[in-house]
Amino acid sequence: MKPIRKAVFPVAGLGTRILPATKTIEKEMLPIVDRPLIQYALDEARAAGIDTFIFVTGRGKEAIEDHFDISYELEDTLKKRGKTAELDALAASLPGAGDAIFVRQQRPLGLGHAVWCARRIVGEEPFVVILPDELIYGPLGATAQLTAAHEQRGGNLVSVLDIPREATGSYGVIAPGEECYGVIEVRGLVEKPKPEDAPSTLMLVGRYVLQPEIFSKLEDQKPGAGNEIQLTDAMARLIGEQPFNAIPIAGRRYDCGSKAGFLAANLMVGLSRPDIAPALRALLKAEGLDLPS
Ligand code: G1P
Repeated sequence: MKPIRKAVFPVAGLGTRILPATKTIEKEMLPIVDRPLIQYALDEARAAGIDTFIFVTGRGKEAIEDHFDISYELEDTLKKRGKTAELDALAASLPGAGDAIFVRQQRPLGLGHAVWCARRIVGEEPFVVILPDELIYGPLGATAQLTAAHEQRGGNLVSVLDIPREATGSYGVIAPGEECYGVIEVRGLVEKPKPEDAPSTLMLVGRYVLQPEIFSKLEDQKPGAGNEIQLTDAMARLIGEQPFNAIPIAGRRYDCGSKAGFLAANLMVGLSRPDIAPALRALLKAEGLDLPS
């Protein structure tokens, strides 16, 4: 079985839910504590053994490319000032030379279309898709959980979380089949079903392992929910042709494309960081929020 080496990060979205903050700042560049969201996504991919990072960007997304490049003047100034910890943090954030590839989605036609824009770079091998505005926080990265399952099973794999039925209209939802050792067979997939039509309450989290045959499905995929070319609809057409399974993902999920999710992610990541937590707890306590440790 081919190991997974490539990750696709669709980052062309406009971030309309956090305007005006995202008018001139990419939503993927918003910080969670002291790192932009996109850094968490890249680090999660790296922790899963990925070495080729494909960003599907759009106009106004240049800061992502700059973030993953060296900043000569900044580094020179830090060196002169003896700021080694800061220099180390910058060095640790960088992908290797030539490991990051940027391709543009020219028109906002949907997530499926964004992934399709990476087809020539992915080629004929399985790959992962990571939606960076969903931060999944836990001891083992969400992508590593998926790639480990892929080593056992192969095929296509999606990650799922159980959600309240009234929320299904915001997500892709699976129709589950048999479950075996924590792996759930996927019999169907529906994008943004009404609660009464949803085949389950297992939502698709933004982490996928896909076989390259997805590209031929995306090639002629008709627009679906929201009149967009949906990745979910193209994946649904692979079911029956190739193995298709889901694994419940371990970790806390924060939708950082929403205001409340973004704030909660900052708070929870801050509270989990030994260098920040004491000061953060003290500030919260002063506000009357005395959190249990
Ligand atoms: C996308 C996917 C959806 C998935 C969701 C996770 O939806 O289409 O299947 O459940 O991400 O965040 P979007 O957030 O683009 O509406």
